[in-house]
Order: sequence, then C-alpha cells, then structure tokens
Amino acid sequence: MPDLTELRTAARAARERAYAPYSHFTVGAAVETADGRRFTGANVENASYGLSVCAERNAVFAAVLAGAKSIVAVAVSGPDGVTTPPCGACRQVLAEFGAAGVPLSYARADGGWTDTTLGALLPDAFDAAALEPVRGPA
Ligand code: THU
Repeated sequence: MPDLTELRTAARAARERAYAPYSHFTVGAAVETADGRRFTGANVENASYGLSVCAERNAVFAAVLAGAKSIVAVAVSGPDGVTTPPCGACRQVLAEFGAAGVPLSYARADGGWTDTTLGALLPDAFDAAALEPVRGPA
C-alpha cells in the first residue's frame, strides 16, 4: 500500500470547496494518476437534488479531462466525525479508471482512516471486458 498521507491531506483540503447547501454534507476527494499528478474534487449539489455530483466523480472527471486516465490511489474525506466511504455510483466510476488493487483511503468518524482497495469496495466490477463479447475490444 503506497503512502497516502499527501492524498488524504489533498482530499481534506478539497472538501472546503464543496457546494452542499442542501445536505450540508461536504465531501472532498483526491486521486493520484499513473503519471504522478494529483486531482481533487468536491461534491457539487443542485436544487434539483438528483443532479448533485459526488466529490469522487468530480475528481475522476477532472483527471480524465486533463488527459490522465489511469488512477493509482484515492482518498475521500467527509465531515468531521463521520465515516465516509464512497457511494456505489462512485465505486463504479472509479473502477472504470483504476484496477482492483488500487488503494483507497477514506476518513472515519474516529478521525482515523480506513485503507482498502477498489476491488474490495466493488468486487466483480462490471467493466469494459464484460462488453467485449458483444461490441468487440474498446
Ligand atoms: N457524497 C459524495 O460526495 N460522495 C460520496 O461518496 C457520498 C455522498 C455527497 C453527495 C451529496 O452531495 C452529499 O454527499 C450527501 O449525500
């Protein structure tokens, strides 16, 4: 497991930029990409609640838009005193750009961090390989 200290700090800092006037549940996320860059995201909510986007997906999309499509580490930080594992939708999006062994660290209610992997959070992910028999290689 790589040292995720800096990534955790970046996730915490990104949380400051969350736009969460409806839930007041601010989340920050940071991803490190294979080329050594780091991208952050925060949740951005909407008055039409279903249009809100999670911190993790905003971080992943920032990386992809900057040309970095391989994620090698992830950190997620929620409000103080709250355990904040990534939601199911974000697990699926992370699995698109990160292998099962990629480490993910999320903040716990007790102030510590839980270190796990994308594969542990989303076993048997539906991915491009599942589509190949029908559509051919991506
Ligand atoms: N949220 C995230 O940003 N990431 C997660 O993994 C869980 C939930 C956000 C979405 C919404 O803005 C707020 O937290 C409450 O659900």
